[in-house]
Formats: sequence, C-alpha cells, structure tokens
Amino acid sequence: MDRYAVVGHPVAHSKSPQIHAMFASQTKQSMVYERIEAPLEGFEDTVQDFFYQGGKGLNVTVPFKERAWAMCDHLTERARLAGAVNTLYLDVKGQLCGDNTDGVGLVNDLTNQGVSLNNKKVLVIGAGGAVKGVLLPFLENQPATITLTNRTHAKAEQLAASFSQYGPVSSLAIENVEGPYDLIINGTSASLDKQLPAISTSIFAPDTIVYDMMYAKNDTIFNAWARQYNVRQVIDGLGMLVEQAAEAFYIWRGVRPLDTQSVICALRD
Ligand code: ATR
Repeated sequence: MDRYAVVGHPVAHSKSPQIHAMFASQTKQSMVYERIEAPLEGFEDTVQDFFYQGGKGLNVTVPFKERAWAMCDHLTERARLAGAVNTLYLDVKGQLCGDNTDGVGLVNDLTNQGVSLNNKKVLVIGAGGAVKGVLLPFLENQPATITLTNRTHAKAEQLAASFSQYGPVSSLAIENVEGPYDLIINGTSASLDKQLPAISTSIFAPDTIVYDMMYAKNDTIFNAWARQYNVRQVIDGLGMLVEQAAEAFYIWRGVRPLDTQSVICALRD
C-alpha cells in the first residue's frame, strides 16, 4: 500500500494522520499515513530512508520546514519564495521535490468562509516562517494593499522588500499601525503563549475580518480580543490546516478531497 507520513519533532500532537485518513476514505484511495518523529540531528537521514524504502510522500512540520527546503532538488515557485517546504515527493526520475501548501490552504479556507482578498486592505502581523509561506498566494489574489508589521520591525521590513516585486506589500513599525483594516491575519505565535501583540486596537472595526493562524478549542486570545472590539467575523487556523492538507493530498494522489468541511467539523468535535 502507498505510504505517506508527517515528519516533525515533536509530532505526537499532529492531526495530519486523522485528516489524511478521512480524505483517503472520501476519495477511496488505498494508502496509509503515519507519524514519524525524526531526531533533531537526523531529519535528512529520516527523509532519505523513508523514500528509499518506497515511501510516496511526506508532510514536514516544525521545526524542519526550512531544512526540507534546503534538501530539495526541485522547488515550486511558491515554496522557493517561502523558504520552507511542507510537502515532499519524488518525481519520475527519483529526484526530491518540495512544495509549500500553507498559503493556498489559507486562501482556500478564506474562500470557503466567503472572504475574498480582492481589493482588501490587509494587515499581516508577524514575519516568521508562517507569514513567509502565505505572502505569494495572498498577492496573487489581488489585495489593495498588504501591510506587514512585526514586533521586530527589521524582519517585516526585509520581508516586504523581498516580496514587493510581486505586488503591493509594505511594512510599518508596529507602534505606528493605525486602522481599521478589512482583513487582519495574526501570523505570530503569540497566541500559543497566551500573549497579544502590542498593537493599537484601532485596527479593528465591526466589519473587519480577523484570522488567527493558530487554533484552539475556544477562541484564541487574539480572536477573543478582536470580539471585545466588536469584530463580528473571527476565524481560527483549523480550516487552514485542513486545506493545506487537501492541497498536499491532491499533489500526491491527483485527486482533490472535496468535502473538507466535514473533516473540519470532525476535528472540531
Ligand atoms: P513561525 O514559523 O510560526 O512563524 P517564527 O518564525 O518563530 O515561527 O515566528 C514567530 C513570529 O511570531 C515572529 O514574527 C515573532 O516576532 P519576532 O520576529 O519579533 O520574534 C512573533 N511573536 C512571537 N511571540 C510574540 C509576542 N508575544 N508578541 C508579538 N509577536 C510575537
């Protein structure tokens, strides 16, 4: 049977095996999908062994996405620009190929929720790996502007400079950000530490759409904060997780799982 896996450290918490098992059953694909915890110093050997033993595809998670990128013989344009790879497979010549489906996963989740980026004034908070992965797919959807801001301003500045040839993206020091914005993406890991970025609440208006890339059983701290300022639509990153997996599944199997909503609902429960 065709073998797939997610590789990370730690990886026990990963929902990917559950997600891909549901996709496989929806699309009647015969495959297995496991978790592999690679030792920190042994990620590259783990990947090589997996494919050497006939494995078909890997998802890569924290902290290995940049190392996966560096190993690849071929990268898609979106992966090359993201500097990070979350999906690995071999081409017909047996060469290692890498893609990054995080950005398209986020855009597809927004689309499912009826949110279009077209002509929107977008604020992206954060300038780490998560944000890098989504900028190109965002710019491809014609927002009016994307403003990048980050606790460490130099990182947002650098990121804006490297993506500005692809569309209207600029950076602003976090203390100078003033809103409101149409769409706000929290791409920081602050919610994991139950912290809020030090940013003006003028970013929020009732019609602002707020998206936290993190997810939690209840509202993330950022989304709860947005609600306090009367934001009506807040979304967390669970849909993005399922949609990035759907895109990886499509790359591997050539079949697109169409019912991602039932998978999101099953995980929510
Ligand atoms: P990831 O791959 O998840 O993006 P990362 O590359 O470590 O992880 O980036 C984490 C991001 O969250 C960074 O933008 C970080 O800001 P700095 O560049 O200043 O470190 C941001 N971040 C983390 N904790 C934060 C906090 N408490 N307040 C604001 N920003 C925070």
